[in-house]
Amino acid sequence: MRASTLSLKAATAALILASAANGQEIPPDFTISSDTQLLAAYGTPPDVTVVEPGVLLDFAIPRPTPPALGLAAIPSGTTGPYMIVMTDPDAPSPQNRSSSEILHWIQLDVALTVNLSPSGSGAAAFPYVLANTSAPLVPYAPPGPPAGSDPHRYIFFLWEQPEGFALPEGYTQFNATNRRLFNVSGFAAAAGLPEPLAANYFLCERPDNATATATATSSGVAGATSAAGSATTSSPAQFTGGAVGLSVGGAGVLGVVGALAAALL
Ligand SMILES: *[C@@H]1O[C@H](CO)[C@@H](O)[C@H](O)[C@H]1NC(C)=O
Ligand SMILES: *[C@@H]1O[C@H](CO)[C@@H](O)[C@H](O)[C@H]1NC(C)=O
Ligand SMILES: *[C@@H]1O[C@H](CO)[C@@H](O)[C@H](O)[C@H]1NC(C)=O
Ligand SMILES: *[C@@H]1O[C@H](CO)[C@@H](O)[C@H](O)[C@H]1NC(C)=O
Ligand SMILES: *[C@@H]1O[C@H](CO)[C@@H](O)[C@H](O)[C@H]1NC(C)=O
Repeated sequence: MRASTLSLKAATAALILASAANGQEIPPDFTISSDTQLLAAYGTPPDVTVVEPGVLLDFAIPRPTPPALGLAAIPSGTTGPYMIVMTDPDAPSPQNRSSSEILHWIQLDVALTVNLSPSGSGAAAFPYVLANTSAPLVPYAPPGPPAGSDPHRYIFFLWEQPEGFALPEGYTQFNATNRRLFNVSGFAAAAGLPEPLAANYFLCERPDNATATATATSSGVAGATSAAGSATTSSPAQFTGGAVGLSVGGAGVLGVVGALAAALL
């Protein structure tokens, strides 16, 4: 299934609600999962792409900034704040997971707020929106699967954030430049986290025409400093999660993204 870029249409809201909390395990057959869908949408209205679980997203879509996130309902028994983890268990390829997992994002201090007038598409239609109130602990790195690899899975998890949360023992080395050999179930166990409150995932592969400057990295994963089909410029990643969606500026992304992509995934 290939995602299409949706225009600002009221129909999208119904679609999002219908697909939320459908009782399916997200992602299927993964050691850690949830039966509640974390609502996610990339882009800025009117060019919004809703992340349906397992959807194959064009390489250009999930970059340069993280998706807007939300929920269909307040997770029972929680008050927040919440935390988000994004991971790729298929690096360098689904057939050879020797670099897996690649940690793509840890965002703490995420607040959940009711969307008083849900309408339109993406975050604008989310009943509840999630928004970060602090800088990311590990900044968002867009998917950068090596050329020739089958699509990787990119998985988002949401937890309530334990009070005074810090990276648990064995995981303190993870940061913006050190993302390989993560283990989300090990991380959750070490941090004493319960089952995730919600999850979602998409697939992404590198198109043949986006191999531009593939560089071998220490991980042996082919990185790429350029992504054909992606916006050539934009501002630094901004995860607002607000009802208006992500704010993606008009100028300058590739330097930032390139630096991240070269280290990855
Ligand atoms: C939220 O995260 C983005 C990066 O994803 C960052 O640019 C922004 O400053 C953060 N917001 C706050 C309030 O820290
Ligand atoms: C990440 O941690 C490593 C050590 O584990 C350190 O050498 C490196 O400078 C850190 N990078 C950032 C961006 O903090
Ligand atoms: C990841 O952590 C889980 C839970 O601690 C453990 O069972 C599993 O063996 C770990 N995976 C790897 C590849 O180390
Ligand atoms: C798996 O990928 C790593 C990193 O690219 C590579 O060094 C290794 O040779 C690969 N293993 C197999 C069996 O292909
Ligand atoms: C690369 O291919 C994708 C679809 O396969 C297309 O959307 C994109 O425009 C192409 N980019 C370039 C630079 O040709």
